Amino acid sequence: MQLLALEAERLRNLAPLRLEPHPRFNVFEGDNGQGKTNVLEAIYLLATLRSFREARARNLVCWGESDAWVRGEIERRGIRRKMGVELAKTGKRAAIDGRVVDRLSEYFGHLHVVVFGPEDLVLTKGAPVNRRRFLDRAIFNLHPSYLDEMRAFVTALKHRNELLRASAGRGVDRALLASFDEELIRRGGRVLWRRTRFVSDFLPVVRAVFDDVTAGAHAIGVDYESLAGLAADADEDACTELYRQRLSEATPSDLRQRRTTQGPHTDDLAFSLDGFPARVHASQGQHRAMALALKIAELQLADSVLGGPPLLLLDDVSSELDRGRNAQLMAHLSRAAGQIFVTTTDRRWIAVDGETQVFRVEAGRVLPEP
Ligand SMILES: Nc1ncnc2c1ncn2[C@@H]1O[C@H](COP(=O)(O)OP(=O)(O)OP(=O)(O)O)[C@@H](O)[C@H]1O
Ligand SMILES: [Mg+2]
Repeated sequence: MQLLALEAERLRNLAPLRLEPHPRFNVFEGDNGQGKTNVLEAIYLLATLRSFREARARNLVCWGESDAWVRGEIERRGIRRKMGVELAKTGKRAAIDGRVVDRLSEYFGHLHVVVFGPEDLVLTKGAPVNRRRFLDRAIFNLHPSYLDEMRAFVTALKHRNELLRASAGRGVDRALLASFDEELIRRGGRVLWRRTRFVSDFLPVVRAVFDDVTAGAHAIGVDYESLAGLAADADEDACTELYRQRLSEATPSDLRQRRTTQGPHTDDLAFSLDGFPARVHASQGQHRAMALALKIAELQLADSVLGGPPLLLLDDVSSELDRGRNAQLMAHLSRAAGQIFVTTTDRRWIAVDGETQVFRVEAGRVLPEP
């Protein structure tokens, strides 16, 4: 999978952007605040119709302008396609080969990206919500329809929680709760099943990468924490039935607490180091190594499922790591990835080889260096 050309206008602070990326390493070098991350954001937007930095795509439009667009030409398995996204006041429009898609979900599946930025360095240390987001993005990359499934679950959860809150002190409308439960169980069962399937493929890859990254010096463990009793090989019906049971057991307590205590929204990935919880036990460097291993594993799994590695967007992670680690990081990543886009304030942080194009980023202008 390769990005052959990228164009953007009125996106953040970027001057009209036209670039032809190198098939391997693309380094975007510039001082702070010049627009390096904005270039990666443009690529991410093209692939996912969202930003990796914030929820509202509208904020990507240059201040004072009313619309923005990104276009790209990609090649996947010998097929070239043109993709485009327009952000306007009225919403988003996405097109493939010049044809505007009716449903945004039709758009996905052609261009896949994995992004690794400074926020990800604390993936194993931070709050569970970050790890759920990681899981969800990784699943979405492999199964684009997961996005709608996940949204349906979030809506069902919101409805049930609103009902629980609204019935405080008045007793709940049991019939209404039962119908909300039914929707939540169906949607939640689907999400649980997707995550169960994903982690059963993913965790063995993560463990193998851990061994590789730490050269076997530490025993790093990772487990999927979800509903009590969820089997690693549960099918969708089993996930749904288990959720039905757990939700019904928790209902008295949910009514007291006025929120839904059981379900995919409380899932987590639990990391351990030499048998102790990594969250409290691991050093800063070990957290980075674990976060890195997660991303490498995500790339490897996507590579085998999609028949080629996704694009890798590396946002400013190199300055956070020392030089020795940095060389190791680049070696691992370059083995796992295909086309790579890296931002840095100083190219000396990046162990570049001959297969590299450096772009200079200054005040929103992106220029290739000879
Ligand atoms: N909607 C917008 N319209 C215009 N400019 C914007 C918009 N959003 C952000 N910017 C500007 O974009 C610049 C930040 O760009 P970006 O985050 O890509 O910088 P960077 O080169 O990655 O910097 P750093 O090295 O600090 O990460 C800032 O100058 C910011 O003011
Ligand atoms: Mg940046």
